[in-house]
Amino acid sequence: MSRIIVYTGKGGVGKTSVAAATALRCAERGQRTLVISTDIAHSLADSFDVALGGEPTKIVDNLWGQESDVYYNVRRYWGTIQRYVQSVFRWRGLDDVLAEEMTVLPGMDELSSLLWIAEHHDSGQFDVIVVDAAPTGETVRLLSLPEAGRWWLERIFPIQRRAMQIAGPVLRRVMGIPVPDDAVFAAGEELFHRLDHMAELLADEQKSSIRLVLNLEKMVIKEAQRSFTYFHLFGYPTDLVVCNRVLPEGAGAYFEGWHDAQRRYQPLVEESFAPVPVRAVPFFDREVIGLEMLRKVAAALFEEGDPASFFYRGRPYRVRRENGGYVLTLDLPFTSKEQVSLLRNGDELVLQVGSWRRNLVLPRALVEAQARGAKFEGNTLRIDFAARARE
Ligand SMILES: Nc1ncnc2c1ncn2[C@@H]1O[C@H](COP(=O)(O)OP(=O)(O)O)[C@@H](O)[C@H]1O
Ligand SMILES: [Mg+2]
Repeated sequence: MSRIIVYTGKGGVGKTSVAAATALRCAERGQRTLVISTDIAHSLADSFDVALGGEPTKIVDNLWGQESDVYYNVRRYWGTIQRYVQSVFRWRGLDDVLAEEMTVLPGMDELSSLLWIAEHHDSGQFDVIVVDAAPTGETVRLLSLPEAGRWWLERIFPIQRRAMQIAGPVLRRVMGIPVPDDAVFAAGEELFHRLDHMAELLADEQKSSIRLVLNLEKMVIKEAQRSFTYFHLFGYPTDLVVCNRVLPEGAGAYFEGWHDAQRRYQPLVEESFAPVPVRAVPFFDREVIGLEMLRKVAAALFEEGDPASFFYRGRPYRVRRENGGYVLTLDLPFTSKEQVSLLRNGDELVLQVGSWRRNLVLPRALVEAQARGAKFEGNTLRIDFAARARE
């Protein structure tokens, strides 16, 4: 069993640097650690200043790195399906080389990289697996796939399979279309099961945490808030928010404007992610490359502590369907008889109870739905949303 830590965030915020720093610290504390990049824009190798490949490569004692390779992964996990798709393309007259290129469908690569996580977990070779994941949008989409996969597996797959068993031979004879055989279906099933297993691992709060990396910039914070909501929607535990590139005091007059903006955004970040803790990493005077710089990042984040600890346990809020509408529940640090005020601002919901404020970016299903009211049930605040969009 391994501890799994996934870092995600908008492009360029520092995911790779923070993931590498976390992994290095874990390894130096004596844990067998793997850091694996699932972002197509690989930069782990640059971060450690070593060459990495499609299988784990040793970096220092107790530390291995892996940058997945699209063709290698696709062959490994999608081989059978890919060969079938390729035969269809060839039947349509596409030449071999192009047919092979075309079978790498968007998302396959990142998905295959995620499947590695489950394999490494099951192998028992590593105590900690640190994932340098793709930017938030893609990661959220990928993490929602197992749900979709299960749906396909249960509903579409058996029907298709039966239909093919009946019509397949006819199709092949009459039209010459390559029909998927049982091996293709079996490979599809196997893939869905792996996906399911991976999602189960990532949702297991005894093992996994998803951590968000952000900078103090409006767009970046907004995207992080949205992902945060989605992780809760899909039930993936989040235990830490890393606020990277925080300008230190005395950065100079030129940076005064940036500094002001960062100071303004700081409370918004606290409000948006509480009770999940937010930790800061300063804007260093140079790039984060090499072990020495990575140690500095780790020190800023974890001081002398263990990066693999759980910094928060629990689900700050949940969304579920009830009576045709939606119910959003939040665990609050207090019970209150005070007036709860709900303010909608586009896709954001601003909650205010006395002087306490929370800012939530709503999942898409709730953006159009009207909030019908909020009430306390013990320490839990319950907000009801109407099912239909406002007329
Ligand atoms: N705290 C920091 N101080 C200075 N430079 C940083 C810091 N964090 C990241 N960087 C630099 O910013 C660039 C982008 O960081 P990286 O970790 O590759 O981001 P991402 O993986 O999110 O795209 C890299 O050149 C990295 O060295
Ligand atoms: Mg990166």
